[in-house]
Amino acid sequence: MIRHINHIAIVVPDVEEALSFYQDALGLKLSHVEPNEEQGVVVAFLPTGKSEVELVEPVDTHTGVARFLNKRGPGLHHICFEVDDMQATLARLDAKGVELINREPIIGTGGKKTAFIHPRSACGVLIELYEVTPEEPERRRERVANWRRRLRVRRRVAIAGIRAFLRALRQKGGVTSEAQAVQPQAEARRRARQDHRDRGSHNLS
Ligand code: CO
Repeated sequence: MIRHINHIAIVVPDVEEALSFYQDALGLKLSHVEPNEEQGVVVAFLPTGKSEVELVEPVDTHTGVARFLNKRGPGLHHICFEVDDMQATLARLDAKGVELINREPIIGTGGKKTAFIHPRSACGVLIELYEVTPEEPERRRERVANWRRRLRVRRRVAIAGIRAFLRALRQKGGVTSEAQAVQPQAEARRRARQDHRDRGSHNLS
């Protein structure tokens, strides 16, 4: 059963610029910004009730999200529905002939499950399915608290310092083009991850 929309992911070229609309003009509250180095993106979270808007900025040019942005420009990337039973949901969709990107769920930290439905079966929209574990909200609060602490230690205030924070992230090994030129091993690892992603996972968060 579908519970509710967990998040709506919007791909943007610049999170800080996007916040001038979603936060300043529209009035959503920014809960936090965090990099996902595995996915090569920076994500800003703007909760609204049980759901949230996630602004996703690709910082690694080799990712699927970066290609999506290049090809189609900023806009809706995917909608994520929370489900109470992932296996049953996937079995039902499969039986109805829905094209699943992941026939088996991707198991994340703490046992949370994610799977994607191909846009071809969903009127052109990439659909993410998500089954949370009971511990997930607590894990998430911890992660946010850790990020806030790290930001404070570096004297970066979450909102005022986003640009500097993003710049620092891009300049760190593994996300800049210069770094790629001098880090062939990192590049090889990135390509391996990319191959993995191209085989099916479009997971963002
Ligand atoms: Co997502």
